[in-house]
Amino acid sequence: MTEELSKSRRIFLKTAAAIPLAATFGLLASPLLRYLRPTLKPLDVFGKSDQPSAEESVVFKDSDFPEAWTCLPFVFKQSYIEYNPEGKETRMIPGFIVKLPNGEIVAYSRICPHLGCIFNFVKDPSECAKGYNFKPEGPVFACPCHLSVYDIAQGGKVVSGPAPRPPRHFDIKREGDQYKIVSLEAGGIA
Ligand code: FES
Repeated sequence: MTEELSKSRRIFLKTAAAIPLAATFGLLASPLLRYLRPTLKPLDVFGKSDQPSAEESVVFKDSDFPEAWTCLPFVFKQSYIEYNPEGKETRMIPGFIVKLPNGEIVAYSRICPHLGCIFNFVKDPSECAKGYNFKPEGPVFACPCHLSVYDIAQGGKVVSGPAPRPPRHFDIKREGDQYKIVSLEAGGIA
């Protein structure tokens, strides 16, 4: 009987000692999970992510692109979760949507990944040679600030200038004869 009493006392003491340990793990796990999957509510680790999202998609039609290298500007509204009274902030991201010679439709943010200027679509290679100090093979995106040039046919590859990488691309969803620009490649704006 005495042995049984001391056994249950041991179990009780072990359980009592484990509670602060479990609480410590719980307190550490919450910020870790929040870091891995950011959410609006600190303890809502399985809730909706705080990642930016489109406020509305931008829609184009097949007929908007009568020929290869048709390039159209657009503005994409992206919503960012913010701790302000509205709970969000809307940013307007300028973009270009382009029809490539192989018929593919691609879209990129116009914000230059170098230092954030707004770049242009330059169709004529000799115009690019005059204005941007580089003669490309075909139409390009080119930035007036420090002369970075991006090859649109090669996924926005940097072909001249100081830019560290291609501009961010938009995801496009094809629905019937429509092209819907639905989201921007993850990362910062530029
Ligand atoms: S900001 Fe575009 S090249 Fe520097």
